[in-house]
Amino acid sequence: MRQQPTFDLRNAISNNRLVGLWRMSTGFHLTYLGATLTLGLAACCRTASYLLLRHFIDHVLGQGRSDSTLPLIALGFVGLALFQGVFTFLSGRLAAQTAEGIVLRLRNYLFDHIQRLPFAYHDRTPTGELIQRSTSDVDALRRFFADQAIGVGRILLLFGVNLAALLHLNWQLAVLSVVVMPPVVVMSVFFFRKVSKAYEAYQNQEAVLSTTLQENLTGVRVVRAFARQSYERAKFERDNWERFRRGRRLLLMHSLYWPASDVLCGAQMLVGLFAGALMVMNGAITVGTYVAYAGLVVWIIWPMRNLGRLIVQMSTGLVSYDRVAKVIREEREPLDEGAPEPTGGLRGEIVFRNVCFEYEAEIPVLKDVSFRCEPGQVVALLGSTGSGKTTLVNLLPRFYEYTGGSLTLDGVELRKYPRHFLRRQIGIVEQEPVLFSRTVRENIVYGVGRDVCEAEIESAARAAAIHDAIAAFPDGYDTLVGEKGVTLSGGQKQRVAIARILLKDPRILILDDATSSVDMETEAAIREAMKRLM
Ligand SMILES: Nc1ncnc2c1ncn2[C@@H]1O[C@H](COP(=O)(O)OP(=O)(O)OP(=O)(O)O)[C@@H](O)[C@H]1O
Ligand SMILES: [Mg+2]
Repeated sequence: MRQQPTFDLRNAISNNRLVGLWRMSTGFHLTYLGATLTLGLAACCRTASYLLLRHFIDHVLGQGRSDSTLPLIALGFVGLALFQGVFTFLSGRLAAQTAEGIVLRLRNYLFDHIQRLPFAYHDRTPTGELIQRSTSDVDALRRFFADQAIGVGRILLLFGVNLAALLHLNWQLAVLSVVVMPPVVVMSVFFFRKVSKAYEAYQNQEAVLSTTLQENLTGVRVVRAFARQSYERAKFERDNWERFRRGRRLLLMHSLYWPASDVLCGAQMLVGLFAGALMVMNGAITVGTYVAYAGLVVWIIWPMRNLGRLIVQMSTGLVSYDRVAKVIREEREPLDEGAPEPTGGLRGEIVFRNVCFEYEAEIPVLKDVSFRCEPGQVVALLGSTGSGKTTLVNLLPRFYEYTGGSLTLDGVELRKYPRHFLRRQIGIVEQEPVLFSRTVRENIVYGVGRDVCEAEIESAARAAAIHDAIAAFPDGYDTLVGEKGVTLSGGQKQRVAIARILLKDPRILILDDATSSVDMETEAAIREAMKRLM
């Protein structure tokens, strides 16, 4: 993999979106400059060939003789075309490198960033929303860098080069060619505002749709079990219709802009050509100048018209920048922050003193919880459903921060420990364990960051009373587990999750209803095996 320029994208956040986008492309400014300059050179080649044409018409064709410069002129045309081609290619290549490079880095950053956001963020953010922002919005940014940012440079250069050439030909004609510029800019700004709004509405609705789709796929079993397909379809169709409506409005904005700018620019060209023709008849300019003007004027109107289009399209990039920046702005959960890790490992004494916790302000879930666990002790928490057992154990690895009281581990306040350290020491088998759609082996070794031998994996699986079942699968430990572990039975899934924790061998083990789908006999066997391992 080629090394990409490293840069912390958090520094790319700015309230001014253009500044933010500029910073987002840190490390690529030179390639961007190269892409723009080569485009400018290509533009110069084309402009030069029109000037050469003028020379040819006025000084060779006009004189009605073929002199010795003819082969040189022919060579000039071929050479200019060749250089133009080479520069255009180079510019395309550099542009692709810039845009793709920027979003490659952005995508990697977003993925990593989202993984590091606190649980509380994920609790309140729909998955579809995050997927939307890391795919569709990132793609809008790619288009921004690939087409629009490069396009602006291209347009300004084309405009500049050709305006200079036109001024060189005849200044009155040159001025006449740019009078539509102010109305085109005003119109573009007007549409820019409209498109920004329409696009934002469109992206929001697309996020709603992604969430609906994603939840439906996750809950596909529930939908079928309750035979609610038509209900879900109707809901999807409603959301999709809304998206259609907003998409149609967005396209309407674009399609209103085009004809309007066409009319302006077309009228401009006609006036210019007509005035030029009059000037030829009056003898103010030569035929060669007129032909060169006719060729060049296209290349000055084109940038004006496209500048407007770019301004309008840029609004989508800017809206997407805001949507992506909103995710990047979220504070990450600091993983390594905290006092140095105790040497010699943990003993495992846990003391709760009047611990309080609330997910949302003013709605306490845990209130004044006090108890202590000695090292090596097995403690069982009993409580009715919703009483806060899962919440309580989630405090230990600092998935959530307790809001009151004191919670100490080996006499040190829990929030002084780095999260990473705690999570290495504490193993949780969750109430609804999640397995990845990888092989059984990969799932079992997931928690250990080292190479493990077959014997270790098997002994963990045996302790979790799942080895025999795995061995009976045709592919054994290489059996692919379906998404979220659905090809395994509920009990098998729990046991694979237990094997995964046992292999990790944490100092503190938390089982949150981990043996709820395991029969009593097996549960006793698992407990026995755990005692031996601990
Ligand atoms: N992420 C969350 N955000 C807000 N409230 C939550 C969240 N998770 C749980 N709660 C609420 O906190 C309370 C305690 O939930 P918790 O999952 O800890 O219960 P529990 O004792 O584990 O129940 P069970 O025996 O059913 O597993 C419940 O009222 C629940 O609605
Ligand atoms: Mg629970």
